[in-house]
Amino acid sequence: MKKTVALGVSSSVGIYKACEVLRGFQKAGVEVRVVMTPNAARLISPLLFSSLAGTRTIVDLFEEPEARTIQHVALAKEISLLCVAPATANVIGKFAGGVADDFLTTLFLATRAPVLVAPAMNEAMVLHPRTQANIARLRALGVEFVEPAQGYLACGDQGWGRLAEPEAIVREGLRILGRTESLKGTTVLVTAGPTREPLDPVRFLSNPSSGKMGYELAREAVARGAKTILISGPTSLIPPAGARTVLVNTAAEMEKACLKAFPKADIVVMAAAVSDFRFKETRDRKAAKGEIGPSLAVEKTPDILAALGRRKKPGQLLVGFAAETHDVLAHARKKLEVKNADLMVANAVGNGRAFGTDDNAVRIIARKGPVQETGTMSKREASRVIFDRIEAELEKKRR
Ligand SMILES: Cc1cc2nc3c(=O)[nH]c(=O)nc-3n(C[C@H](O)[C@H](O)[C@H](O)COP(=O)(O)O)c2cc1C
Repeated sequence: MKKTVALGVSSSVGIYKACEVLRGFQKAGVEVRVVMTPNAARLISPLLFSSLAGTRTIVDLFEEPEARTIQHVALAKEISLLCVAPATANVIGKFAGGVADDFLTTLFLATRAPVLVAPAMNEAMVLHPRTQANIARLRALGVEFVEPAQGYLACGDQGWGRLAEPEAIVREGLRILGRTESLKGTTVLVTAGPTREPLDPVRFLSNPSSGKMGYELAREAVARGAKTILISGPTSLIPPAGARTVLVNTAAEMEKACLKAFPKADIVVMAAAVSDFRFKETRDRKAAKGEIGPSLAVEKTPDILAALGRRKKPGQLLVGFAAETHDVLAHARKKLEVKNADLMVANAVGNGRAFGTDDNAVRIIARKGPVQETGTMSKREASRVIFDRIEAELEKKRR
């Protein structure tokens, strides 16, 4: 089926290149609907884009709709990508702040499609801390960027801020479109969050995992078209739309849910921080302080990754996470072997790293080949890098 891209056009001098972006998508067989900001329509007539696209350019949010539909909601559902090129500092700021006062900014909030932004502005504007903060905020939400280039700016200055070349924008857009179905027909199982091992109804043994990494991974699996099952320990996060979420508390409950879902899964990503220990004895009623002695006996919880590693069929890909405070790589390599996993994602934790934060720096280790390092990036971005690698490994496995 033909895919549709909404091309958002805002009022930057780089606007003249938007026609080339439109053409580039069309040449690749993609349908383009153009959405201009009212200010962009003061720089170039919408008619130019309408005649190139073969559909009416949308500018006015309150225009009488052709059919009995709310246009921005209908378009939000129809598109596979929102590509904004050129994006002004203003549009980027509005996206980052959740302002929806014209068609384009309302569409941004209304769509679940991936968003690609190609900024274009004068160097002082692009390097302004406010603009940089807005870009960082959007990146953390999963918005992707085509970096502006250095060179001659239309305002006459030299420097950073020139809109990237249309070919580069189209190439990036097509790459994202390709990804939206790359896991179609595949079932992905993701675990997330901590587990809680109770002592009594009000006390438990756990860890500071927020579940953010696992939830982002589940969101990415859904975005790539996979049937996604998320098995989550207690978190304060909203389950990702499109995933079937199973909520559990203890390691034993997580094991049960994983073993049930495992036979159907093609890819299993174990991002949960399962508690390694639980109390040997639990109580039904809250224990008084005096009832608890100086030591409490603990025992090991089930090793879920190892259990799945033993059951793994040749076509299944098993990914483990190794959260370590020291000797991260050595521990992760050992875990990869012992648990019969295919990939191990290692991250350093403790001292404010990884647990509970929005950013992560991961290293991906396979049985063979060099270690892939991501550097610090948002968990949203890290989930993309991890799934790109998972897809590459799965292809190798099935070849
Ligand atoms: C001729 C002209 C060129 C402009 N070029 C840019 C630009 O390249 N980048 C930018 O961020 N703003 C640029 N601006 C300023 C924006 O148009 C202005 O911030 C506007 O409010 C943005 O509206 P919009 O984001 O809704 O299109 C330009 C303005 C004019 C008049």
